[in-house]
Amino acid sequence: MEEFDYKAFKKMVKEHQQNDEPTSWCNSIYEDVKGDYTKVFWSDLESNPYLLEYISNNKAEGKKAIVVGCGVGDDAFSLSEAGYKVTAFDISSAAIDLCKKRYENSKIDFLVADLFDYPISWFEDYDLVYECNTIQVLAGKYRILAREKISSLLKKDASVLVSCRSRREGQQENDIPKPLDKKEINEFVHKDKLKEVFFVSYYDTQEPPICHFFAEYKKSIFL
Ligand SMILES: C[S@@+](CC[C@H](N)C(=O)[O-])C[C@H]1O[C@@H](n2cnc3c(N)ncnc32)[C@H](O)[C@@H]1O
Repeated sequence: MEEFDYKAFKKMVKEHQQNDEPTSWCNSIYEDVKGDYTKVFWSDLESNPYLLEYISNNKAEGKKAIVVGCGVGDDAFSLSEAGYKVTAFDISSAAIDLCKKRYENSKIDFLVADLFDYPISWFEDYDLVYECNTIQVLAGKYRILAREKISSLLKKDASVLVSCRSRREGQQENDIPKPLDKKEINEFVHKDKLKEVFFVSYYDTQEPPICHFFAEYKKSIFL
């Protein structure tokens, strides 16, 4: 099997970021797999256990969820199976094509959209927002904008679940993807005025293991 060339990937992303093109490279990752979603190198092809635990402990009926940067669609599918009315979007049209073929009989509304310029009707319209690994592929000011846009999708009393790679402050500053440190993820609380409901830092099962954060932040009914 052909090995994924991480060095070339990182160089390519860096070049786009240096040209202030934060997302123009994303589609190529999905186009390169030529219709085989199992070959998308960053896809786990299963949902995070903390998302599954959240789903099993929370009522979904009648609730609207949105999945940010949905990739090949596993998380959207888990949420839909649980009973949420799911919108799942990605800036990559090739990713959305893969999702639509993979889940052609599902009720999920898969669509191409840009988090930075999402349809106006999405503003404060969701009971649950799921963000997994989108912020970490962005650089500089786009990470801040992404966080703000993610929070802006929440209705009052709604939650965002954030799943990402993590790092210690001051370390891995030039990594691609660049993991979030505690200070950055805490901006959901300090800047967007959400309340931390649940926060966990854990290592995954890769070799070598990678450290991650998973958190739930809730919007107040008064905001
Ligand atoms: C590392 S991948 C994660 C995909 C998926 N969430 C997962 O966990 O497998 C990041 C995803 O974010 C998407 N993305 C990046 N910037 C975006 C934006 N501005 N709007 C929508 N999607 C975006 C990319 O196309 C890519 O699918």
